Amino acid sequence: MFEMRERACLGRVGRLRTSHGVVETPALMPVVNPSNLLISPEELRRRFRIEILMTNAYIIYRSRFRDQVLERGIHHILDFEGPIMSDSGAFQQHVYGRVDVSNEEIVKFQTAMGSDLGAVLDIFSEPDSRWRECEEGVRETLSRCEEAVAWKGEMGLVGTVQGGLFSDLRTKCARSLSQIDLRVQAIGGVVPLMEGYRFADLVEVIIASKRGLRPDRPVHLFGAGHPITFGLAVLLGCDLFDSAAYAKYAYDGRMITRWGTTRVKNLRYVSCSCPACFDATPKDLKDDVKRLAEHNLHVSLQELEELKQAIHEGSLWEHVERRSRAHPRLLEALKTLRKHVDFLERYEKLSDGSLFYAGPESMWRPVAWRFRRRVLERYRPPEAESLLILQEARRPYSRTYASLLRDLSLKANAHAVVRSVLGPVPIELDEVYPVAQSVIPRELDVEALEASEVFLRQFLRLGHFSFGVLWEGDKTIAELASKAKGPSSLDMDMARARAVADYQFGSGASDALLGGEVELVKSKKKGKIRNVYVDSEHVLSLRAGDGLYTLKMAGGRRLHATFGPPRLRVVVNEESAPFNREGRNAFAKFVVECDDSIRPWEEVLVVDESDDLLAVGRAIMNREEMMAFQQGVAVKVREGSALS
Ligand code: GUN
Ligand code: ZN
Repeated sequence: MFEMRERACLGRVGRLRTSHGVVETPALMPVVNPSNLLISPEELRRRFRIEILMTNAYIIYRSRFRDQVLERGIHHILDFEGPIMSDSGAFQQHVYGRVDVSNEEIVKFQTAMGSDLGAVLDIFSEPDSRWRECEEGVRETLSRCEEAVAWKGEMGLVGTVQGGLFSDLRTKCARSLSQIDLRVQAIGGVVPLMEGYRFADLVEVIIASKRGLRPDRPVHLFGAGHPITFGLAVLLGCDLFDSAAYAKYAYDGRMITRWGTTRVKNLRYVSCSCPACFDATPKDLKDDVKRLAEHNLHVSLQELEELKQAIHEGSLWEHVERRSRAHPRLLEALKTLRKHVDFLERYEKLSDGSLFYAGPESMWRPVAWRFRRRVLERYRPPEAESLLILQEARRPYSRTYASLLRDLSLKANAHAVVRSVLGPVPIELDEVYPVAQSVIPRELDVEALEASEVFLRQFLRLGHFSFGVLWEGDKTIAELASKAKGPSSLDMDMARARAVADYQFGSGASDALLGGEVELVKSKKKGKIRNVYVDSEHVLSLRAGDGLYTLKMAGGRRLHATFGPPRLRVVVNEESAPFNREGRNAFAKFVVECDDSIRPWEEVLVVDESDDLLAVGRAIMNREEMMAFQQGVAVKVREGSALS
C-alpha cells in the first residue's frame, strides 16, 4: 500500500496506493468543507495538482449534507475523483471541550460515505495535561482503534498517536498502533504546539512517536498547515499534512510565507510571484479572500515541492538548516535534534550529496556524527610514533598538504590528522564521505572551533600515538624529526585502502579483504585508487563520488568467511534465494533478518537462512525497514553467487 521511493534521514518520497488512485508523498491535503468551498475541489485538482483531499466527517455528520453523502458518497458530493481522507471530530473535542458522537457512529459514518481513509475518534491530549490524564487518553484511543477495525470495511483506518508531551507515552502508543490494522498512522495533539511556536516540543513529540511507529506506513501530522514546519516534519518522517490554514488564514487577512505570516493590511509590496500574486496589487490581496487563499496554498505546495527535490538531490539537511533561521523557535527545534542523533543516524544514507556547512548545528548532522564515531570505533592508524595535527583546509587535504606530507614522511616517523569541524580526519580518510564532499567557511564560529577541539581530544585519548604536535610551520617537522626519527615506511596507498575498508565494514575488514597479494589499480588522470585486486581477484572498487567501496563478489566471500553472522548480512527466505543467486534484487517482503548496524546505501551480504552467501549488493533500507516493508527493494543486488 505504501512504498518508499527516495529518502533522506527519516524523510521519504513515497507512493500511497488507494482505491481512488496513487498519491505521491509528502503530500498536502487541503481541508474542504462541502458547506463552504472557497476553492472548489475541481480547481484544487486542475489548478493546484492536488491529489488527495481532507474533509471533516464530524462536521458533515452534523450538517445538512449528512444524508446526501450517505446516499451519493463523499466523492460525488465534493465532485473529486481522487482519494479523500476524513477526520473524526477529535479536534472539535479539543476546541469545544466535547463531541456529540461516538467512535462507532463516526467510524461507520466514514465507511458509509466512502472515505478512502477515515480517522478513529481519538482522545486529543493537551500539552499541559498530566501524565495520568494522557495515559488514560492513550488507553482509550488505542481501544477505540482496536474496535474500529471491525467497522472499517474497505476503508483505510487512520489511528492517531496521542500522549501529550510525554515521550514514553508517545512511543508506547505508537508501538501499540503499529500492531493494529491501520493504513495511516497519525500524530495528533500538536496544533497547540504549532500555534504557540513550540517547535522544540513538536520535534520531541514527532521523534518519540516515530520511534514506536512501524516504518512501512505513511505518517500524517494532524493540523500542520503552515509551511514553516514542513521541513522539520518531513526530515523526521512525516508524509502527510492537512491544511485548513490556507483558507483560515485568508479569512483572517493573513498571508502565509515560507518565513512566517504577514498581515495583508500591512502589505506595501506583494513580494511573491506565485500564480495568484504575479499580477496582483497589495489591494487585490486585501480585497479578495479567494486570491489570498490561493496564494497561501501555492506557497505551502511550493515548500513541499522543494522538500521533495531536496530529498531527491541529497540536500534535505541544508534545506532544513537554512529554513530554521526563519524563527528563533525553529532554530531551537533544530538544535534539539542533536539529542536524537543516534536514532536519526540509523535512517541516514551512507553517503548523500554534499555537506554545506550552515552553522554549528551542521557538525551534528547524523553523517558527521557517524564519521566521528566510526573513526573512534573502527580506525586503527598505521605504525607511527607521533602525530602531526593539521588545520582545517581545502579539500582534499592530501592535495592541499601534499608537499608538507612528503617532507614529513622523509624526515619523521609521524602520521597526520586534520583537525576538522566534522571531527579529526586521519589523512588517509580524507576522500571519505562527508569529508571531501563538505564545504566549510574559512572563518568558523567559536562553538564549532570548541567542538572540533573536543572531538580531537576524544581521538587522542585512544592512545594510538605517544605524542601529537600541532602544525606551526616548518619548525614543527624539525621538532617531530628530532623526537621520532624518520623516514616513515608508510605506503600511503595501502594505508588508504586499509583505512577505508575498516571505516566502511568494521574493524578487521582490512585484514579480511586485503590479506594476500594486493594490486591497486589507479586512475590515469588523478592517480586515485579505483580498483582493488587481491590474489588476482577483483575484490573492491573505490567510488570517486563518496570515497567508499563497492563490494565485488570476491570481496563478499572474504568478508563472509571472516565475519560471522549477523555481521553485514541480510537474510532472505528460500522463496527469494534462487533469484538473488542469479543476481536479482532482494525484496523487503522476503527478508527474515538483518544486521542491526546496516544503514541505507551500505554494501551488504545477502545470505539464505543457513548463511550461504547468495549475493552482494547495496542495502536500500535499514533493519527496521527491511523487517516491516512488504513493498520495495531491500537490497539492490550487484552480483549473484551463481554468476561469479
Ligand atoms: N486535527 C488536529 N489535531 C488532531 C488530532 O489530534 N486528532 C484528530 N483526529 N484530528 C486532529
Ligand atoms: Zn503568492
